[in-house]
Amino acid sequence: MGPISSRATLTLEPDGLRLDGRQGLARSLHAQLKQKILLGQLAAAQRLPASRDLAQRLGVSRNTVLRAYEQLMAEGLLEGHPGAGCYVAQLRREPPPTAARTPAQAAGFEESGQASELWARLQSLHLTPPLRPGERGLRWGLPAQDKFPHILWSRLQQRFWRRHPQLASGYADPAGLPRLRALIAAYLNSSRGLACTPEQVLLSAGSQQAIAIAALALLNPGDRVAMESPGYRAAAAALGLGGAQVLPLPLDSEGLRIGALEALGDCRMAYITPSHQFPSGVVMSAQRRLDLLAWAQRHQAYLLEDDYDGEYRYAGVPLAPLASLSGAQQRVLYIGTFSKLLFPGLRLGYMVAPKAWVPTLAKLRAVLDRQSSIVDQHVLADFIEEGHFLRHVRRMRRTASARRDTFIRAWERELDGILPLPSPLIEAGLQLLLRLPNPHWEQCLLKAAQAKGLEIGGLRQVGGLASHSQEAGLVLGFAATPEAQLEAVVADLAQCWRPVLAGLRRKDEQ
Ligand SMILES: Cc1ncc(COP(=O)(O)O)c(C=O)c1O
Repeated sequence: MGPISSRATLTLEPDGLRLDGRQGLARSLHAQLKQKILLGQLAAAQRLPASRDLAQRLGVSRNTVLRAYEQLMAEGLLEGHPGAGCYVAQLRREPPPTAARTPAQAAGFEESGQASELWARLQSLHLTPPLRPGERGLRWGLPAQDKFPHILWSRLQQRFWRRHPQLASGYADPAGLPRLRALIAAYLNSSRGLACTPEQVLLSAGSQQAIAIAALALLNPGDRVAMESPGYRAAAAALGLGGAQVLPLPLDSEGLRIGALEALGDCRMAYITPSHQFPSGVVMSAQRRLDLLAWAQRHQAYLLEDDYDGEYRYAGVPLAPLASLSGAQQRVLYIGTFSKLLFPGLRLGYMVAPKAWVPTLAKLRAVLDRQSSIVDQHVLADFIEEGHFLRHVRRMRRTASARRDTFIRAWERELDGILPLPSPLIEAGLQLLLRLPNPHWEQCLLKAAQAKGLEIGGLRQVGGLASHSQEAGLVLGFAATPEAQLEAVVADLAQCWRPVLAGLRRKDEQ
């Protein structure tokens, strides 16, 4: 680098700089000079005007210019000294990329084949948008969030911060707080009939992350994974993260069809929701559970049991998970979540795996996002330990059951003659599936509901069905909406659907 004094002085036209006071004058000046340097509009080794001169010409304080120059120096874009002369640094630079030539290139880099396969798959993944405040409808998958005891929760949170601020702020075991893992294991043993130890429990950010962890840890690219179809679209996305092939398999009234699974030949994993199939609501029969387990043992395959809403059973006691069957220990990974019992925004769920696997699975968890919030884990542990959790589960079950009854009564009153609910009626879960004759029906009914500002799930989107499938239906969530509002929503649906249904029937008869 030559002596600074030999470099030319650059004349900066103040007109070429347009400072924006909203983001701060110094910051705005810094950003504009930086861009000019990086684009080569200010040549290497050229001298910038003295700070006093530039300040005068721009009508700003000298301090503003000095701050901008100092920042550019700290970033290595200017050399010298703000008081004694600043020069544009000598930077080696590639020529700027040529502009996209075609609209397809401009649309994104996946068009040019440079993105990963995962990137391409994510383009076609549809995520259900979060409910907007005040939005009405029958949103599937949500519990009665209005029943969550948020004042009690915030009291527990405050107490935790008061008593143990030092525990909250660091890194912790990615598998989860030992105390919380022990409480979850105790709950699963006593309430769900699943014999497991705390060391088998791995905390996760909801069941979504647990599914992703299982898929990434146990599958190789190209491995086959079977899943129920219609099924939980977000699970399919997680199962395929590492490049496994996710194959949809048909259901019958007992659950995933074993014959279709056998026909696949080599298959390393099957993802299932046996307590309450999502979204059809089928409860997997005892025989099918045994058959599935035998299949997994024969093929050395894994069963990923997603027990997302197993506690919501309205007749009799909740069914024991498939993972509780004898012989399931090395073959079934059990996944649970607090999303449906507390609230989904908490992002706490868990997996129960063989004890020897958990340290490795915990390493994967640490690689992904390190751990769950320590405060949330402690507060949840207190919530469980002090008896609030079991009380809340009972309240949530009662509430969902009452809302289900209200929903059914309102439907029978308003819509039974024109769009009857399936029979037998739902005895579990937070939503029901109402099958429709074909995709055209689904599209028309959803469009009419949408026009009335009502949010309803369509089977084809919610259940991730391929476009050639003729299956169709509505996924109707009843648990998240208070009773009075449920009645009003069903009445509004009846009003907007009556003419649509009459038209569809006429067309079908022709
Ligand atoms: C089948 C299924 N699994 C899991 C979940 C819950 O996911 P998470 O625990 O990630 O909130 C849902 C939510 O709708 C679901 O439908």
